[in-house]
Amino acid sequence: MCGIIGYIGQKKISPILIDGLRKLEYRGYDSAGICVLSQGELKTIKRMGKLEELAASPEVAKLDGAIGIAHTRWATHGEPSEKNAHPHLDCQGNIAIVHNGIIENYQVLRDLLLKEGHKISSETDSEVLAHLVEKFYQGDLLQAVKETLLLVRGAYGLAAIHKNHEQIIVARKGSPLVLGLGENEMFIASDVPAILEHTKKVVYLNDDEIAIVGQTDYQITNLEGKEIDKKVEEIKWTVEQMEKKGYKHFMLKEIFEQSEAIANTLRGRIKDGQVKLSIDFDVKKIKRIIITACGTSWHSGLIAKYLLESIAEVSTEVDYASEFRYRSPMVGYSDMAIVISQSGETADTLAALREAKERGAKSLGIINVVGSTISREVDSGIYLHVGPEIGVASTKAFTSQVVALLLLTLYIRQQKGMSLDKDLLRDLSDIPEKIDQALHRAEEIKKIAEQFKDSKNFLYLGRGLNFPVALEGALKLKEISYIHAEGYPAAEIKHGPIALIDQNMPVVFIATKNNLSEKIISNMQEVKARRGIVIALVSDSEEKVEQIADYIIKVPETKDELSPIVNSIPLQLLAYYIADLKGLDVDKPRNLAKSVTVE
Ligand code: F6R
Repeated sequence: MCGIIGYIGQKKISPILIDGLRKLEYRGYDSAGICVLSQGELKTIKRMGKLEELAASPEVAKLDGAIGIAHTRWATHGEPSEKNAHPHLDCQGNIAIVHNGIIENYQVLRDLLLKEGHKISSETDSEVLAHLVEKFYQGDLLQAVKETLLLVRGAYGLAAIHKNHEQIIVARKGSPLVLGLGENEMFIASDVPAILEHTKKVVYLNDDEIAIVGQTDYQITNLEGKEIDKKVEEIKWTVEQMEKKGYKHFMLKEIFEQSEAIANTLRGRIKDGQVKLSIDFDVKKIKRIIITACGTSWHSGLIAKYLLESIAEVSTEVDYASEFRYRSPMVGYSDMAIVISQSGETADTLAALREAKERGAKSLGIINVVGSTISREVDSGIYLHVGPEIGVASTKAFTSQVVALLLLTLYIRQQKGMSLDKDLLRDLSDIPEKIDQALHRAEEIKKIAEQFKDSKNFLYLGRGLNFPVALEGALKLKEISYIHAEGYPAAEIKHGPIALIDQNMPVVFIATKNNLSEKIISNMQEVKARRGIVIALVSDSEEKVEQIADYIIKVPETKDELSPIVNSIPLQLLAYYIADLKGLDVDKPRNLAKSVTVE
């Protein structure tokens, strides 16, 4: 949450900072601000609301200077407002900071600073950082930031500038930060897309590292001052991958990219009837798997449980990362912890990973963002290779997570010396084609969306592997359309939720062909008998439901193990079209952020 960018160099500064923030807006978008060192003074401009409010302000265009920092906010402490927007300044206006994360002991620090006479003007936890730096500053900005950080508890990605120094100080604990190395210019940012247009050479900061960044050089140390030699990495993503390419929203583009994305996840990983993964430990020895993740990634973990237990025959548990980290889990040396995260930066998932590792488990990451914190901390990993996902609602990352987890499942089975189902391998290789076929029906789904854009509630029901798909369908709808939606195992509704069914309740059944389809058709009858509106997602060859369902969405037939991938496509489209027809900002739904780096 929150996006940070900074620049030090000779180019016109405001377009660099504002364009950088645009690429980071997915991290937060309730207010934004910029501060530039101009003729020995710090000039700060902040605006409440979307970044365009700041970008459109004529003062921003006039800003001129060689050093600047900027921030797009996702509120944690204090409502979205101009006063609470970053950058925050000290009492004299000499120091400016931008912060991403949460300072947990800010109240104590704030009280202390107020007693000492500091004037604190916002309700944020972040502002104390500016005043602490002021308190410790004696001519050395780096030293003052270090002393500040020794006092604070919590998470931070931090950038600080001072009107007397041609440098940016950046530090990280728990919230990502990357340095971008240009020709005679340097960048700092929360995430690579913000600086990709300018440089592909980056250095990732790790927790407890601090850097002093000048126009042509940088130095990274730990908080005790020990110098750290870091690898310069080359980014492979292109600027074009970060753009909408004519689609109305990133989400729509990312939905339509899924066949290509999944082809990339699969590339080189199925060969000569074998699954090829490079995992640095012996998966045969694993007695139990514990999957932790959040949100959509947790849903792909639930699907993986079904796959891992039935195909790889390994007992598997799935936990919300936020719960796992605090529940003293029984985890040990014979366990493998799988952490699933598109961004690789989710605070709870990272903490769960650390907890599992500390308890002796081997760890494996299913990650999209190369070089992200989780990807660097896991013992081994499988990258998704689906390119950047910008829309806040996860789509292509979800389906490719399922693919990566299925590959892992098959790999474990293979390493255990059990034979692989050749038909499943072939169908998995061909799945991009099935995705394309499912996408071709977008217009039919749009028509259904038109009927339901004013609904107040929705139920999504599925069984087996498609129960998590129901959860994911409901999450997609609620997060972007603000329609209340719940997912349930279809047979479970008799135990309570069926009371909600009436003529106003649309119920989406995920009922593609498998050993449970007869049973789910009975569940459909139960809903129909109570006058519920049935929207049935079924396989192409299905005919029985035509008399029962009010609306039918057909998808190409696949093996059941692959059905979550194909079945997710129409549910993503349904959510997208409903939200778009309601005129909502699909890529930036209210209250959300793409990368949740606070707990
Ligand atoms: C929903 C969504 C979120 C994320 C969750 C975890 O569409 O995107 O629920 O799945 O915040 O994010 P990652 O996968 O980056 O750890």
